[in-house]
Amino acid sequence: MNLKDLRINAKRLQSTLEESAKIGGTANGGITRLTLTDEDKKMRDLFVKWLKEINLEVTIDEMGNIFGRRSGKNDQLTPVLSGSHLDTQPKGGRFDGIFGVLGALEVMRTLHENHIGTERPLIIVDWTNEEGSRFAPAMMSSGVWCGGLKRDWIYGRTDVNGKTFLSELERIGYRGKVPAQSFPLHAYYELHIEQGPILEREKKIIGAPKGILCLHWYDIYLEGEANQVGPTPMEGRHDALCAAAEMILKVNALPSKMGGNMVATVGEIQNGPNSRNIVPDKVHFTVDIRSWDDEYAIRAWEDLKQDFVDIAKRRGCPIRIEETWRVKHAEFDSKLHERVIDVSKNLGYSALKMVSGAGHDAGYLNQIAPAAMIFVPSINGRSHVEVEKTTYEDCAAGANVLLHCLLETANELG
Ligand code: GLV
Ligand code: MN
Ligand code: MN
Repeated sequence: MNLKDLRINAKRLQSTLEESAKIGGTANGGITRLTLTDEDKKMRDLFVKWLKEINLEVTIDEMGNIFGRRSGKNDQLTPVLSGSHLDTQPKGGRFDGIFGVLGALEVMRTLHENHIGTERPLIIVDWTNEEGSRFAPAMMSSGVWCGGLKRDWIYGRTDVNGKTFLSELERIGYRGKVPAQSFPLHAYYELHIEQGPILEREKKIIGAPKGILCLHWYDIYLEGEANQVGPTPMEGRHDALCAAAEMILKVNALPSKMGGNMVATVGEIQNGPNSRNIVPDKVHFTVDIRSWDDEYAIRAWEDLKQDFVDIAKRRGCPIRIEETWRVKHAEFDSKLHERVIDVSKNLGYSALKMVSGAGHDAGYLNQIAPAAMIFVPSINGRSHVEVEKTTYEDCAAGANVLLHCLLETANELG
């Protein structure tokens, strides 16, 4: 067969995605499969079984990252890596991350059944905890692997119930022995749903992001004075939740105050004691700021931080601010980026250059190797929700683009 005519098996890709959607599947068609839960373990076990079925050499590292390696004709050449993540948000979608791993698996299956070798080794990867919902920050295990985050700091991170990342990683049996350290790579590709409305609006099938916005996360802790709500006069209260409410509106107003080109969000809050008849005295909330311009995002934060301090002072609610995590904006390798466009066009798919507002493991990988991403449309631009949807036809198109990008890249000798 002429290599140019090779295509992935669209039906098999669909049924593999559907198998995954049963693990942690929700009533409305999404998935709740938070990292290092029993559901995550079940999905990992199935993924490892699928890797072994096509004779990939499976390695699990000390962050629980799972690699499946396929030898090249010349194993001295640096490998090409591709993957994403199998964990989800609470009531998340069935495509985010998962499509990137199972799309790469479909490519590996296609090469396997057609007995097609590549010059360079090909490796598929599932990165642990890309979502950062249960344990912050996001992309933590690709971050450690690429040297951007410290392993022991990550091991000690806790979820809302006080369980550590390390204890949960050990509990599900996925603390491997191999150090979580990058090895030389020729290239990294990550296939993903767009998670935004642009491809659908522009009627394009494939998106080629030139890069990813920077991502900055902060944790805010406020203290107030708890009291019985009935007898306590309104004046003189130290209501931590009211202080947080004022701050949250400042976050929402920040992008327009700064003149645009950024987004800012409070997505998580814990209120204590969380009783309708007690004045709240303990609040924790998160802040997420993203922009293409890292310095601009930091200037915005400095402005916001001053507002937080002023509000906390005026309301008599002591504040503690943790600058939890920053990952720089990523600008992908131009050659790989162009290749995504060229391969798409050769396969007959319309393609668009764009920017990724969502964070991806590719952001860290880009710090150590040439990296690129392939996007497919998200229906109504919805993601991180149960109704997240991409047509299986578009999934097949994306996987075919990945197949040919991987073939071209893994057959490069120089
Ligand atoms: C990753 O899911 C992100 O928050 O963009
Ligand atoms: Mn993702
Ligand atoms: Mn996500």
